[in-house]
Amino acid sequence: MPPDRPPAGARPLRLGVMASGEGSNFEALVAACQRGQLAATVCQLVVNNPCCGAEQRALRLGVPCTVHDHRSYSSREALDQALIASFQAADVELVVMAGWMRIVTQALIDAYSERLINIHPSLLPSFRGAKAIEQALAAGVQLSGCTAHLVSLEVDTGPILVQAAVPVLEADTVESLAARIHAQEHRILPLAVRRAAERLGLT
Ligand code: GRF
Repeated sequence: MPPDRPPAGARPLRLGVMASGEGSNFEALVAACQRGQLAATVCQLVVNNPCCGAEQRALRLGVPCTVHDHRSYSSREALDQALIASFQAADVELVVMAGWMRIVTQALIDAYSERLINIHPSLLPSFRGAKAIEQALAAGVQLSGCTAHLVSLEVDTGPILVQAAVPVLEADTVESLAARIHAQEHRILPLAVRRAAERLGLT
């Protein structure tokens, strides 16, 4: 970090985002920064799937994007070291996993200790893993939702920052429930970033 940098709180928080797919949560974060809801700036996106929706959105929004295709790394740890290097080069202070579909290692968690946030489409600790919405429908729950949390090593665990609940309707399909949950994810993710920054005294 440059020595002449203004103190935290006097400048926008520098956010890094990790995404694998559509990138609607990434865009929601950028929008929250642009409308001043979040005193932050998304200064680096990393994606693991070349040409994914998130990368296209970054191009449109003018956010620097680096592709780290997981297929070209020998291990999860090697991929995470490359992510860390990209974030450090961009002076990123807090990282958001916004639809990152890879398991992360202790290296990334340590590099961004208490500063690594994940968004998950269920009310954790229920329905961890990649098929959370399918699991919720199969279980017949009447309420589901989303959780933004700090990242611990075990997948979809760690201190909860913000949750939002949505009803599960009888006629719901994976798509209809996912759309309802997504709308809430876009709302709570900026709140979670703010809460994490407050915990760290970064705001
Ligand atoms: C979200 O539902 C998130 O909870 C999950 O992956 C999805 C990403 O959506 N981890 P998008 O790429 O942000 O549109």
